[in-house]
Amino acid sequence: CGIVGYVGEKQAQGVVIEGLRRLEYRGYDSAGIALIDDGRIASDKRAGKLANLEKAIEESPLPSSTTGIGHTRWATHGAPNDANAHPHLGARGRVALVHNGIIENFARLRARLEADGHDLVSETDTEVAAHLLEQQLEAGADLTTAMQAVCRELEGAFTLVAMDAQDPSRVVAARRNSPLVVGLGEGENFLGSDVAAFIEHTRDALELGQDQVVTITREGVDVSDFDGNPAEGTCYHVDWDLSAAEKDGYDWFMRKEIHEQPRAVADALLGRHTESGALKLDEVRISDEDLREIDKIIIIACGTSNYAAMVAKYAIEHWTRIACEVELSHEFRYRDPILTRNTLVVAISQSGETADTLMAIRYAREQKSKVLAICNTNGSTIPRESDAVIYTHAGPEIGVASTKGFVTQLIACYLLGLFLAQVRGTRFGDEIRDVVEELAKLPGHLQRQLDESASVLDLAKTLADAKSVLFLGRHAGFPVALEGALKLKELAYIHAEGFAAGELKHGPIALIEQDLPVFCVVPPRGRDQLHDKMVSAIQEIRARGARTIVLAEEGDDDVAPYADVLLPLPVVPTLLQPVVAAIPLQLFACELATLMGHDVDQPRNLAKSVTVE
Ligand code: G6P
Repeated sequence: CGIVGYVGEKQAQGVVIEGLRRLEYRGYDSAGIALIDDGRIASDKRAGKLANLEKAIEESPLPSSTTGIGHTRWATHGAPNDANAHPHLGARGRVALVHNGIIENFARLRARLEADGHDLVSETDTEVAAHLLEQQLEAGADLTTAMQAVCRELEGAFTLVAMDAQDPSRVVAARRNSPLVVGLGEGENFLGSDVAAFIEHTRDALELGQDQVVTITREGVDVSDFDGNPAEGTCYHVDWDLSAAEKDGYDWFMRKEIHEQPRAVADALLGRHTESGALKLDEVRISDEDLREIDKIIIIACGTSNYAAMVAKYAIEHWTRIACEVELSHEFRYRDPILTRNTLVVAISQSGETADTLMAIRYAREQKSKVLAICNTNGSTIPRESDAVIYTHAGPEIGVASTKGFVTQLIACYLLGLFLAQVRGTRFGDEIRDVVEELAKLPGHLQRQLDESASVLDLAKTLADAKSVLFLGRHAGFPVALEGALKLKELAYIHAEGFAAGELKHGPIALIEQDLPVFCVVPPRGRDQLHDKMVSAIQEIRARGARTIVLAEEGDDDVAPYADVLLPLPVVPTLLQPVVAAIPLQLFACELATLMGHDVDQPRNLAKSVTVE
């Protein structure tokens, strides 16, 4: 969900709606706003996208006000209808509250409120918190103290932002295991799930710690813990500006972000060397000695980030000779994994807020393992709670389906592998130097691919009525196949599956039928037999009627005769091929979904940042 709060001199409605627009990628089942008007709460909320809310307030305008909160929802408790949309009000309509997360003890609290005669109108866990807050206010507390008291009662994960109709001077928020940042303005202050909410107004932000309450007024910001003890946030300056959060002439954020990848990869590689040529990471609070002791790496992630993790395994094991496992965060967390002080857990998360991954790293640290985060979002929770961080520096990613996020994660994984190899002194010779040189060439390769992408766009036209699409890959190309299939599921809502090409003959080949489109990611022609094996697999499926769409290195004449459509890839080493192979698959999914008339940036049922487990 996306959350916004504002106190200042401007009209809050404009600030809040604009903030919600920039946060809509975090959830778009419903949206709502509340303002304080002359001792009362004025509020509107609507199921569906933000545009529905905007239309409603255009038809029946809200009063002018300089204090407001807003919410854009990804439903957890209760269907995405008007009643369940946020803000929720207290029993007397004095409190308005928006919430992200899950209040786990809400049933018990609800029963208590109902026994006290409260009438709750929604099915949400949020409304319970609104009623509790109002109870405190009615008993004489101010909103800040009331928020502290209520938070002490709540279990689970939450960001809460609330207003008291009788006190328009402040908006009060709290966070536990769920994102919230403060935007620092002059004569105005902001709250947001992330800085995109207020980037138009200020690039100065305050990061909050766990279990903190923050009160914003026009004049300032006050932070405390849930017991009311003073606390401090950490100030930082956002290193990107409004233009990064705008579509900039593209029809979709996703298309813009695809085209930003040459720059994003260059930025991800920038400044990774010391003067002496040694690789360095952003923040490493692990000694070289401890890094040398590592005997196992477990990479955890969800969604697209998990596919970056799968690629990382091939590279890291090869370069470092440390055993490396890859696991989905939510599976890892609950299966009693074997973790020791010498296990390095690597958490990959574009947003840095994915609850499944956050809970998994907390668990790993409890077991005394070291945690290294690969993350795109400065100041987010996962890097803050890790022992080391590599930022991917891709700039804000707003399209729900990850593109530049994924590709820069791959870069960060390579850097990590090379860094570990350097620290441990394994194989740090010519091969590693070659890889570093090849990495530096990637932005140029990507730019050329994007400049010459017309054939991928044409391909989408011919597949617009496909019912099912398969993706095959081997080695580092296997995760790319999985990622290609995920993109189609997410954006085009087409049944799509990725397979390891070697597995084909053990089952999936039964799916092959006349004209079934099959994307095949062919490894570069190298010393090993990977390439030839893949070419054989392509022959096998083609013989059974499949329509083969082959991604292979330029000049690969061995495979060309078996390709119905050939998408040439720049010549790169096998381990780096996922970076270049991802590009046509992203373009294809984006184009196909556009042709099908889908909302590419906000696919149905998804959210960019899933902050509940
Ligand atoms: C959500 C998004 C996916 C994303 C996944 C992991 O499910 O819809 O696109 O890959 O979260 O997100 P993260 O921010 O942790 O990389």
